[in-house]
Amino acid sequence: MAPLIFLTRRIPAEARTLLDQAATVRAWDHEEPPVPRPDLLQGVADANGLYCLLTDAVDEELLRAAPRLRVVSTMAVGYDHIDVAACTRRGIPVCNTPGVLTESTADLAFALLMAAARRLPEAERTLRQGRWQTWSPLFLAGQDVHGKTLGIIGAGRIGQAVGARARGFGMEVLYTARSSKPAFEAACQARRCADLDELLAASDFVSVHAPLTTETRHMIGERQLRRMKPTAILINTARGPLVDEAALRRALHEGWIWAAGLDVFEREPLPTDHPLLQLPNVVALPHIGSASVATRTAMATLAAENLLAVLAGRTPAHCVNPETLSR
Ligand code: NAP
Ligand code: GLV
Repeated sequence: MAPLIFLTRRIPAEARTLLDQAATVRAWDHEEPPVPRPDLLQGVADANGLYCLLTDAVDEELLRAAPRLRVVSTMAVGYDHIDVAACTRRGIPVCNTPGVLTESTADLAFALLMAAARRLPEAERTLRQGRWQTWSPLFLAGQDVHGKTLGIIGAGRIGQAVGARARGFGMEVLYTARSSKPAFEAACQARRCADLDELLAASDFVSVHAPLTTETRHMIGERQLRRMKPTAILINTARGPLVDEAALRRALHEGWIWAAGLDVFEREPLPTDHPLLQLPNVVALPHIGSASVATRTAMATLAAENLLAVLAGRTPAHCVNPETLSR
């Protein structure tokens, strides 16, 4: 009998076809809103596979409601929305989509860096609102990008791809990670900092690319923001909770740092009355790091392939708890 998959959102047609060819698919077939929790819990009740997005919490409650579940596959590289330990205890592989989104997300991080440095959204608003009166020496003057120092927190796949872009702008590249990256150091003349404090003090731009874990939550708080240069710009395309937003708001309002470019937030979607949106020196985007048609299609397809591989007893291309595969 074909396995039963619960799919939590409408996905690109190529990926949906793959699922339909190999399984019976029960879907929350909408682009929005996300699947309501009761529908999710009901949907997984007899499912063998769960195809989910980063908006779906996969926790103890869900796993208890899904006694036949054999695989969880997320259409994302970040898997902080999944209780991996709870899945592992049940022998359930958790699959994700690293690699296929690296370059698109790095493009977006660099676009945010440029936009925040040169005040692009503010400048466009000024023009559209009829407030462009004349050319003037310091009218909408921002910070240069070329020749400056970029500090990368978490020089993994995306962090290193941002570093490669920075080299094209003649920037010096610093980084932190848990382990050293000799190939990255050679390719980008990047230098590993002794610690986060050193990186923060030396960088004109700080770009965050670490995963969200118990260790990295609020890794950028008041103490770290106060170590940055008053002309520095913080970019976050990783996960919102890496940054203490209340401290960031004070830092931007009181001038401890110069600007921020943010694609991710502690609470998503960001409410329109959020204090960060009152600040002119914030460029805010709705979590679109990987959002090109080609990349989202590649992610959707990879998530489908991972899921079907596990259900067919094959090894998936990407599994974050591979110990479950050998059981
Ligand atoms: P990755 O290759 O695993 O890179 C993560 C890097 O963070 C690794 O180099 C790791 O160090 C480092 N790291 C881990 N803990 C750290 C710590 N405490 N301090 C400093 N560095 C630490 O992952 P990736 O593919 O680049 O993706 C990174 C994150 O980006 C994802 O987890 C996801 O949350 C986010 N993301 C967001 C979007 C978006 O739409 N905005 C899109 C894609 C990804 P080691 O290499 O030494 O282990
Ligand atoms: C997006 O945020 C991802 O983790 O893929």
